[in-house]
Amino acid sequence: MDAKALAIVLAAGKGTRMRSKLPKVMHPVGGLPMIRHVLKASSDAGIDHRALVVDPDAGWAQNLPEAPSVFVQAEQLGTAHAVLSARTAMTDAHDVAVVLYGDNPLISGSTIAGALSRARAGADVVVLAFRSADPTGYGRVLMTGGALSAIREERDATPAERAVTLCNSGIMVVRNGPAFGAIADISNTNAKGEYYLTDLVEIGLARGLKMAVEEAPLEDVIGVNDREQLAQAEAIFQDRARRNAMAVATLEAPQTVFFSHDTELAEDVYVEPQVVFGPGVRVGEGARIRAFSHLEGAQVAAGAVVGPYARLRPGAAIGSGARVGNFVEIKNAELGEGAKVNHLAYVGDASIGARANLGAGTITCNYDGKYKYHTEVAEGAFVGSNSALVAPVSIGARAYIGSGSVVTEDVPADALAIGRGRQVNKPDRSPARRKPDDG
Ligand code: UD1
Ligand code: CA
Repeated sequence: MDAKALAIVLAAGKGTRMRSKLPKVMHPVGGLPMIRHVLKASSDAGIDHRALVVDPDAGWAQNLPEAPSVFVQAEQLGTAHAVLSARTAMTDAHDVAVVLYGDNPLISGSTIAGALSRARAGADVVVLAFRSADPTGYGRVLMTGGALSAIREERDATPAERAVTLCNSGIMVVRNGPAFGAIADISNTNAKGEYYLTDLVEIGLARGLKMAVEEAPLEDVIGVNDREQLAQAEAIFQDRARRNAMAVATLEAPQTVFFSHDTELAEDVYVEPQVVFGPGVRVGEGARIRAFSHLEGAQVAAGAVVGPYARLRPGAAIGSGARVGNFVEIKNAELGEGAKVNHLAYVGDASIGARANLGAGTITCNYDGKYKYHTEVAEGAFVGSNSALVAPVSIGARAYIGSGSVVTEDVPADALAIGRGRQVNKPDRSPARRKPDDG
């Protein structure tokens, strides 16, 4: 734990280049808002005091699980001005501030920790830089004689400076004392009329402060200003997630499998092509997720088989060795060990016992237009195809439901229930119902 470092996370403003009603830093990468990736990375780096700078309309900042101290920047006058909005968070208890931008969703704890240790080794300011073949839009990190001399924003850069491919990530570690104090002296005499934190480099050098540059891979520090960059960040995130998953699980076609920030696959999970893991999914050892399945908020126990073409919605809990087959949707329902729902079914708000079997076309009618109700199917029960289980209803252990039943009353254990109109055969009545040329 690093009790002496303060993280200042900048997240004010709408992010106009995103052209969205949703604040930029709330756009998700891997199903998690960008700002939460950044807050988490700071805590992975061991930092436990976080100051978050937001604009006055940022209601979203109030209930973040990472619980940062929130500071409001009334007007967005630039990144230096934003840091100063949180200056009271920087107390004598802190030796450094780590400035992070809310639109750097791929930053990792170890990269932050690396920059931190450079400051602890003596630098007053550490700039985290990266190389990019296409530096468009980023501030350029200018070096003179092997030493950092300035960071130039693109709008203010000369053509020669624009040709520089060393870019500013935005992440900066600033030592408490003269270096942090110098932020207050930054002016806004530039093309945008903003207070640029990046000007700290030139001011600091003029005052004899020690500057350092630390390089990080592009994949760690990509900045997201528009939706194209958002898609790039997502692609990098997915590649990482696939590699992580393949440490223990088999992905038959990794490029076609999509993960969330919190997907957990146990050892020997086998994932077929075209599978989407929404947030909150855990898959147990040796389970198989077959092609074209979509899972979200679901748990799949060891050895279960899901899909192809299955949909597990939040609250689905598939027991060990259970089977969920094609065109089956499961929501807020548990399937016991070895239970089977193999074809074309909807199981919502239900508990299905161990080894129960729901036939093709079984539907839990869980909603009456106003309220939701629970369906219970006890262990070993067999529900014939195309049955409607009208909740609230319970089916006893080992009971048998005839195909096509509409079950509105509880069925005792071991009973046979048939809830449908009887078939009537009328001999020789077919010809009269046909057109003469029907044959
Ligand atoms: C910034 C850097 C640039 C760097 C790039 C990396 C400056 C002046 N420029 O440019 O050198 O290459 O990031 O991605 O720092 N913010 C506030 N209040 C403000 C202004 C910005 O909180 O008044 C926040 C934004 O929410 C954002 C972050 O600061 O999260 C960066 O601002 P942004 O406008 O995206 O800066 P860039 O133009 O990307
Ligand atoms: Ca940015």
